Amino acid sequence: MNTLNIALPKGRLGDKVYGMFARAGFECPDILEENRKLVFENAALGLRYFWVKPSDVAVYVERGAADVGVAGKDILLEYAPEVYELLDLNVGKCRMAVAAKHDFYDDQRRTLRVATKFTNIAAAYFGALGRDIDIIHLNGSVEIAPLLGLSDVIVDIVETGRTLQENHLEVRETVLPISARLIANKASYEFKREMIDRLCAGLAKIVEGSEA
Ligand code: PRP
Repeated sequence: MNTLNIALPKGRLGDKVYGMFARAGFECPDILEENRKLVFENAALGLRYFWVKPSDVAVYVERGAADVGVAGKDILLEYAPEVYELLDLNVGKCRMAVAAKHDFYDDQRRTLRVATKFTNIAAAYFGALGRDIDIIHLNGSVEIAPLLGLSDVIVDIVETGRTLQENHLEVRETVLPISARLIANKASYEFKREMIDRLCAGLAKIVEGSEA
């Protein structure tokens, strides 16, 4: 039997998503063991799960190391991997936003200094507005940049808004809504179509059920 290789984002979102996969009939009970293993198999169902860093899921899927996976729309837009986006799982919901210090006044005639991990998303957003920007790429803790005068604004993910609030920043504009997506490797989708379609249909029912 063909094994379906599934890359899930390690962490709270991954645990939630695994619960959805299990309810869709793609369970792998060993995964619930408390240990630091990263690969789990259910040979009877032909499933192999891997936990990977959330931002790496699309890399595994694009290169075929995983047949399917779950990645945030932020990662899909930022890196534009060559994968199929099959389903919006309607979890991991947050938004990409532009944030600034409370007292920041945006003089439209000046080049805006933007600190972000998401340089492509930021460039596309401000490009569409015809705004000149100077992009400063950071790998994390971007909230510090405006506080230290490194940038005027940040483009980052906002979920509860707590990180911004605790760093005396506020949302100025919403760039786009984000949620987790089921993605598939393009070749796998041809060769393992039956199993992937069954997974996608099972997950779609769960998503619909949770919306109702
Ligand atoms: C994200 C983002 C913010 C935070 C927002 O970081 O970069 O720092 O979450 O969440 P909040 O609005 O609920 O406070 P994440 O924890 O994903 O990790 P990162 O630091 O690697 O970006």
